[in-house]
Amino acid sequence: MSATVSPLLLALREGTRACHQRLEARLPFFSEGFDRAAYADLLGAYHGFHAPLDLLLGAYQSAERHKTPTLSRDLGALAIDIEALPRCHALPRIDDEASALGVMYVLEGSTLGGQVLKRAMAERLGIDADNGGAFLDVYGPLTGARWRSFLERLAATAPEPAAQARTVEAAVDTFTCFERWLEKRRVLAC
Ligand code: HEM
Repeated sequence: MSATVSPLLLALREGTRACHQRLEARLPFFSEGFDRAAYADLLGAYHGFHAPLDLLLGAYQSAERHKTPTLSRDLGALAIDIEALPRCHALPRIDDEASALGVMYVLEGSTLGGQVLKRAMAERLGIDADNGGAFLDVYGPLTGARWRSFLERLAATAPEPAAQARTVEAAVDTFTCFERWLEKRRVLAC
């Protein structure tokens, strides 16, 4: 996907590569025995992380980037009671634009991997946008455009080293908090 490659993007990629690899290896989407019930549990755990983060990111991103409404719709389709789901409290700190950008990088980037997961879940579990899989393609045909506009925002930030370091740190923290939360919810494969 061609897009604006800024020094900050390169630093984010380098800083989080190992985090992504580790989490991807632990997620159960491609595990043997991963079924609809396990998918519903996993999506419920995603909701517990995204719902409080959407609130924390409120001042830094427009509502069109909120993931919780789509997750809630999917969970409804899977007959999961959203009110009963636990929410994560150990979240990355978001106290300025620099840290918000780091958190957003992780959440926005996950919409790219979602394209792979969307196809896999349709094939393996028959789950699509109407019966619990809308989150995997949360932006639909706007996925590429939303990613590019986020990269433009990254590229337009001041190249101040301390702020850039805070962005990368927030991105790493986001991966770490998410992995710990999924582990706590016992939805990881290993
Ligand atoms: C099994 C699960 C996952 C798979 C198979 C996967 C796969 C991918 C793939 C193929 C890309 C590159 C897409 C492209 O360049 O067009 C990508 C990018 C990315 N993914 Fe994942 N992903 C997974 C889970 C996640 C999760 C859970 C997160 C974060 C919560 C995440 C965060 C990212 C980020 C930040 C990028 C953007 C990297 C960049 O271009 O700078 N991924 N993923």
